[in-house]
Amino acid sequence: MILPIYVYGQPVLRKVAEDIAPDYPNLKELIANMFETMDHADGVGLAAPQIGLPIRVVVINLDVLSEDLPEYKGFRKAYINAHILETGGDEVSMDEGCLSLPGIHESVKRGNKIHVKYLDEDLVEHDEVVEGYLARVMQHEFDHLEGKMFIDHLSTLRKQMIKGKLNALLKGKVHCDYKVKVVKK
Ligand code: NI
Repeated sequence: MILPIYVYGQPVLRKVAEDIAPDYPNLKELIANMFETMDHADGVGLAAPQIGLPIRVVVINLDVLSEDLPEYKGFRKAYINAHILETGGDEVSMDEGCLSLPGIHESVKRGNKIHVKYLDEDLVEHDEVVEGYLARVMQHEFDHLEGKMFIDHLSTLRKQMIKGKLNALLKGKVHCDYKVKVVKK
């Protein structure tokens, strides 16, 4: 089932998300719905707060990039109770967008190496060091679990430059071809 994506201004996007218990109701169905919602919106990642749930669940699909990055062929994974333990490596700038910030794309500087722990879809625990493009996407998605969005990483000047676009989103002026939930005024 395709769920509406919560847009900038929705308070849930600013909450620190909670870990879930292994018996969280209908977890498989939730993850399937998150994949379907992400695919429908042509995203490479989606975090549960973006569908209104303040819980630590993320889905990532890098298979869509596998023409350019063959190492990600077939890469579709869910991350449960995900936490970044450490961020490091070289700082790299790359353009980012977010399904909760339609129409906004900005260059964001992030470390290219992270140490993460999470449960996979079968609730098996993982403790990994991740590098490259996946580390970038994970940081973007796991930021959502801390109530952060990529625009928080921008300079004061860049933030000033996109203020008009952000205000438009707050007013519910959203142009995208997927279902969204804007702030109720
Ligand atoms: Ni995002």
